[in-house]
Amino acid sequence: MRLGVLCSGNGSNFENIVRTCREDEVVLMVYNKKDCGARKRASKLGIPHAYIKSKDENAIINELRWAGVDLVVLAGWMRVVSPHFINAFPDRIINIHPSLLPKHKGLHAVEQALNSGDTETGCTVHFVNEELDSGQIIWQSKVPILEDDTLESLTFRIQREEYNILPLAIESLR
Ligand code: GRF
Repeated sequence: MRLGVLCSGNGSNFENIVRTCREDEVVLMVYNKKDCGARKRASKLGIPHAYIKSKDENAIINELRWAGVDLVVLAGWMRVVSPHFINAFPDRIINIHPSLLPKHKGLHAVEQALNSGDTETGCTVHFVNEELDSGQIIWQSKVPILEDDTLESLTFRIQREEYNILPLAIESLR
């Protein structure tokens, strides 16, 4: 499988995929924030990477196609993708989200969970469709919300779980 990963931020999920998936499977990382951590990680790991503004969707599509990508992974891609983009890779775009969807869609999902009074939250890998954080769920994992949790501590534990489930979800799509 040839994976293309889209990132806007720190890129820890991207690095985790590179380290846990089969050798040379991540063929491209596209990023839309010039100095993001994902770029530094790609350089360090020797993964081909390209900076493309998110509004240049056709350029992103072309780059992914050029690289022969057959599964697109949104790993901290802070931008809603358009129907045009979704149709370019039908049923082959997945996203990792830090909540137990359908709960807490959108930005600030961890904060929402923390303020909800719930005793658990988690993370979800799902297919991307035209509605935000609403596509078919591929994999989920629960994370307890502890009484003394802060945004930082809960985010940390959810991310640890993300590192487990994103590779499992990818594996399940082979
Ligand atoms: C992850 O927590 C993911 O759930 C959310 O963005 C974050 C990306 O983190 N969509 P990183 O860039 O992989 O470190």
